[in-house]
Amino acid sequence: MGQPGPRHVILLGFMGSGKTTVGRLIAERMGLPFVDTDRCVGELAGMTIPEIFDRAGEETFRSYETRALRHALDGPPSIIATGGGIVTREENWPLMTSRGVTVWLRVGFDTLRRRLADSKDRPLLSGDTTWERTRRLYLQREPLYRRAAAWVDGEQPAEVVADTVIKAVGSLPDARNDRVE
Ligand code: S3P
Repeated sequence: MGQPGPRHVILLGFMGSGKTTVGRLIAERMGLPFVDTDRCVGELAGMTIPEIFDRAGEETFRSYETRALRHALDGPPSIIATGGGIVTREENWPLMTSRGVTVWLRVGFDTLRRRLADSKDRPLLSGDTTWERTRRLYLQREPLYRRAAAWVDGEQPAEVVADTVIKAVGSLPDARNDRVE
């Protein structure tokens, strides 16, 4: 399933783990393009993410997300920031692991909760959602993030996290994750 040549760096992690901020920094430092699947979904759908959830539901959002992922992976090697739920669709895994190296930005729930307190554009955190429910979602997803080829402490300042990711990716044999192929 693997393809030869340089690979994408794919950032995974729960909402608020810093994928976009850190991803931009890594891209800048490595001189590679930065791609954000959430942004790509918005462009493909011609709607904002809350609008997609509202009008078409989460499953439709997930289908757009897989399309956005494929699109990013078909492009030149890049740093890809994903949405927190990309790990929940099994079909995304062989795509990610065959074309890139997956990195989990690991952040504890208390820190995430602090970071997400003012979040307004995330449908899964709006409406009647409670922190208890969000914590359950985090716990449900944790085993999926653990499948990443590299785990990085995402609690550090973004610049430090970016450097750690670059080092971690550089030290992986062949910069790929064979575990779940
Ligand atoms: C989601 C995370 C969001 C976005 C959508 C769903 C999730 O991205 O894709 O709101 O299921 O965790 P961020 O992780 O960038 O907030």
